Amino acid sequence: MTRWPSLATRSVRTLSIAGFVALLALVPLPAAAQDTPPAYLDPALGIDERVADLLERMTLEEKVGQMTLIERGSIGPADVERYAIGAVLSGGGGYPPGDNTVAGWTAMVRGYQEAALATRLGIPLLYGVDAVHGHANVVGAVVFPHNVGLGAADDPDLVEAISRATALEMLATGIHWNYAPVLAVPRDIRWGRTYEGYGEDPDLVTRLALAAQRGLQGDDLAAPDTVLATPKHFVGDGGTAFNTSPISGGLLDRGDTLVDEATLRRVHLAPYVDAVANGARSVMVSFSSWQGLPMHGHSYLLRDVLRGELGFDGFVVSDWAGVDDVARDYDRAVALSIAAGVDMNMVPYDHRRFIAATLRAVERGDVTLERIDEAVANILRVKFELGLFERPFGDDALQASVGSDEHRALAREAVAKTLVVLKNDAAALPLRADAAQTVLVVGSAADSIGMQSGGWTIEWQGSTASLTPGTTILEGLRTGFGPATTLHFDARGRFERADAAPERAELGIAVVGEVPYAEWFGDDATLELSLADAIAVERLRARVDALVVVLVSGRPLVIEHELHLADAFVAAWLPGSEGDGVADVLFGEREAVGTLPYTWPRSVAQLPFDLDALPTDGCDAPLFPRGYGLRYGDATDVSPWLTLAAHCAAEHPSRTASGRNHP
Ligand code: BGC
Ligand code: BGC
Repeated sequence: MTRWPSLATRSVRTLSIAGFVALLALVPLPAAAQDTPPAYLDPALGIDERVADLLERMTLEEKVGQMTLIERGSIGPADVERYAIGAVLSGGGGYPPGDNTVAGWTAMVRGYQEAALATRLGIPLLYGVDAVHGHANVVGAVVFPHNVGLGAADDPDLVEAISRATALEMLATGIHWNYAPVLAVPRDIRWGRTYEGYGEDPDLVTRLALAAQRGLQGDDLAAPDTVLATPKHFVGDGGTAFNTSPISGGLLDRGDTLVDEATLRRVHLAPYVDAVANGARSVMVSFSSWQGLPMHGHSYLLRDVLRGELGFDGFVVSDWAGVDDVARDYDRAVALSIAAGVDMNMVPYDHRRFIAATLRAVERGDVTLERIDEAVANILRVKFELGLFERPFGDDALQASVGSDEHRALAREAVAKTLVVLKNDAAALPLRADAAQTVLVVGSAADSIGMQSGGWTIEWQGSTASLTPGTTILEGLRTGFGPATTLHFDARGRFERADAAPERAELGIAVVGEVPYAEWFGDDATLELSLADAIAVERLRARVDALVVVLVSGRPLVIEHELHLADAFVAAWLPGSEGDGVADVLFGEREAVGTLPYTWPRSVAQLPFDLDALPTDGCDAPLFPRGYGLRYGDATDVSPWLTLAAHCAAEHPSRTASGRNHP
């Protein structure tokens, strides 16, 4: 940077005599000395000193600009410069329109950063994304398994390596800020964000979230290969009560967490204690409420607990328009949330409105200047820690890492570790790759990168389409079977077209699953397989000797009937772009090692579980407990859970697909 901010525009408030003399002394300085960069640009100085120096130079408008986070679809570089905006994000699906490529992303982010650097003080902006399973808004980036699968793998080193790879793919596009990891401890799997959490156990969530944070931030946030993590959503997002969602179509999402304080602390706050102690520098507020009070206005939890007790001194960022819900009146909502401890507002659409409301709040005295300075200092401190003033751009040399073979290999290994074998009778698994056999494959999730990737993939809600490069589960199967095997595929299991599938086959594989969703779109009261998939399983069962069912889903579904029909049943969660990792386990190239991160219900009538008092026998017991998962070496009849499952399934014949079809 060549243009130093001029001292003349420095905000001169009430000057002491000494200060006045010092200022006078600056006037006759020779030209060379006037070119000395201001203290805040001097990397040799301590961060507190740099923050204080910069804060001192800022106007109120520039301070409020730093508190503003806006979605890229609602702002161009010109307004970033004009309003001295502090941060920009890409929401889910927020790719450069018409150019979802690494080059397109890099140019877009660079454009905003250059605008920020062109402002009077040249404060670099933070650009944020939800790289919650890889840098997955970018076509061609590696899409890693969603957290539910990583919870099943329970391998902190693996999670750390995935987050490292994600950080590099982000930096390749110039992005330094990730809205991850999710620290939710989902307690009711009907919630549409269940898959974003690692599991229902706070210790598991803590262990893996810490690994993710370490992977993103490394040992040194200022290093050129690290990005800022954002544990979210503070706090209690996974604990909302059924039917308390305030939004249309929602059941649990953004709802009210009605638990008492001891439970809130034991279950939902616990991961934050460790995240903060281990270097969390930004925390995102939850859309949910605790006992009726929205988190975005919750000064007890945001100030007394998070800052006071946990000692957090990074910055608190709101969720998407989360501030707006604190009060009916926008000005009041803004004032209340800033006072309660929100430092940066993910506005996300109208920066002018937020800036004006904040300036009015200061004018009215509803928000003090001290509070504004505190919020801005929190934000600037982290920008300095990240090294943004020294290195505001990403690293073009990393572009080759986006979707690299190395990252794909890591994802494939991860996928294999996430699989949980629920049932394996008559050693149906591993599959025999070299047998002379006919294999029929059915199911909506067999041949779709979109289905196996879930939400937060290219689009906010994901999509069933082939969104981005990778291998489907079917492709993995085709590659795995030797030349002696003939494979036929029909998603719906009709095999009627010129496919020449024989009436009977040795092996059937049904890959069934949930259509992608994110947030409240995924709240689901029934947790049923789609009718098409349920029928495909029944059709397949009728014509094969051995039936293997693979479930691609963000959570346990009600599968009692299909489990009963299947010889082997595997939960594959949302594996992401590397579907061949599923085949690796099915063929026994890799051992099945996953265990359930959530208790699996027999029916939705069992939900929500009281996890402290689960029935363990009879059909009131869950279908499978947390931690359940078979190994190939296990004897086939070892599991009392499977015996019980068979018994209870026999009592529920109404759950067949044909039963649903003709009620
Ligand atoms: C989600 C956050 C996300 C943000 C930005 C919100 O709707 O709750 O998890 O970080 O959008 O995309
Ligand atoms: C954005 C998401 C965001 C959501 C919140 C969407 O339009 O793409 O990132 O989480 O809105 O409602």
